[in-house]
Amino acid sequence: FFPNFDHQRKEPPGPRPLPVVGNLLQLDLKSLHSSLYELSKKYGSVFTVCFGPQKMVVLAGYKTVKQALVNYGVEFGDRLINPVGKELGQAVLFANGELWKEMRRFALSNLRDYGMGKKAAEEKIIEEIQYLLQEFESKPFSVTKSINYAVSNIISAIIYGSRFDYSDAQFQQMVNRANETIQLSGTPSLFNLYPWLFQWARNKMQLCKNVAENRKQMKLLIKRLQETLNVEMCRGFVDSFLAHKRKLEDSGMTESYYTIEILVTTVGNLFAAGTDTTGTTLRWGLLFMAKYPHIQDQVQEELSRVVGSRQVRAEDRMILPFTDAVIHETQRLANILPIALPHVTTTDVTFQGFFIKKGTPVIPLLTSVLWDETEWEKPQVFNPAHFLDKDGKFVKRDAFMPFSAGRRACLGESLARMELFLFFTSLLQRFRFTPPPGVKEEELDLTPALGFTLMPMPQDLCAVSHEGF
Ligand code: HEM
Repeated sequence: FFPNFDHQRKEPPGPRPLPVVGNLLQLDLKSLHSSLYELSKKYGSVFTVCFGPQKMVVLAGYKTVKQALVNYGVEFGDRLINPVGKELGQAVLFANGELWKEMRRFALSNLRDYGMGKKAAEEKIIEEIQYLLQEFESKPFSVTKSINYAVSNIISAIIYGSRFDYSDAQFQQMVNRANETIQLSGTPSLFNLYPWLFQWARNKMQLCKNVAENRKQMKLLIKRLQETLNVEMCRGFVDSFLAHKRKLEDSGMTESYYTIEILVTTVGNLFAAGTDTTGTTLRWGLLFMAKYPHIQDQVQEELSRVVGSRQVRAEDRMILPFTDAVIHETQRLANILPIALPHVTTTDVTFQGFFIKKGTPVIPLLTSVLWDETEWEKPQVFNPAHFLDKDGKFVKRDAFMPFSAGRRACLGESLARMELFLFFTSLLQRFRFTPPPGVKEEELDLTPALGFTLMPMPQDLCAVSHEGF
């Protein structure tokens, strides 16, 4: 005879679910993060929503998200492997346990070796900026493609050891497919829940096709590197992986995580996680500049006063506090990964008095952190002053958490931050960003487009070259 304590287990509150659909009718699936944010105002910082039959716990507000991901890092630290995750394969993004631990450790230490957060990455970015600048002209254009190609080339250079030409058809396909895959995996939040629904079947087919074609292409690139591998002189991440694989095999280890399939998945993960995110943030930055010309004036005044026309370097961040604040504010307000990537509990856990069962999907609602009304003075306004003190010095803010926190936090953060800083400043040094002729600043649309990452609506901008630069 065991006493039944179930009645003492208080589960997080939430809206009453209906049979089959759960709370789906109460959620705006086109803007899921906004709906969840609204619900958090009613149900508090830990609440349950039912996506059809699937119960999920939402964590809201800076204090709660931080407490869960950092103080209860292990309990809330696994990744939810949804159907999209299954399709992409297991390595760093969608994996748990020993495989994830080993691949995350290997990826982090090798990305660092190939320059992440260091001089080597700075040189790669500065080289890439010269190519990007050539793409910009003073006519209305969509900045999306060239920016995506430029940021993809940084991770490509780190992974493969060399960049691609923007006109290389294979490279274009690879970038476009990676970005499309990310958008497809988000558009139907439902696809992740009801993979059998007819209306998502087409998306799923396209997604599978993209994943298969990307894998084929990556395998080809890897094969070429394998044929010319010199373990004493690794050119990039792939070489390091292959060298490690060979070392294990030479030592007689026949079974390990170092297989070509896992290498392909890891490379695909880094490529997908590292390009759409950074490119989207940069595009938001340029859009905010075109929308708020008085802020653009201040950035350009600071850049011309402090660095003039020389190439901006990573160390200049310290002496460009206003520009740094603008980049932080861009990430805060753009909120490009509003629900991060869903986690799952690794064990039964009692959190803030609520019982959450092992295996419960958890959404760290980053929107509610980046727009937390108790943390930010003007959460809905583009206000670089959030990151400046009264003397104009840059101030760090705890609730600035676009890369999430804890053991699943973004592993490319330092690379992304360097890319954002160098690309943004170099573009602003040379160009003035404006709406196209005949369009007023007020008409520029800040409503995000539907997708997994919140990206700006497709719209043209003008990049007008600074006179005399
Ligand atoms: C995970 C944000 C750029 C690689 C994540 C997560 C967020 C994020 C919110 C999910 C964290 C969680 O589950 O709690 C961003 C933003 C970026 C960016 C805003 C750019 C502005 C990059 C870059 C790379 C990268 C450049 C590659 C070098 C990854 C990987 C993961 C991840 C591999 C999965 C980590 C894991 O599950 O252990 N990122 N990221 N990200 N990011 Fe980034």
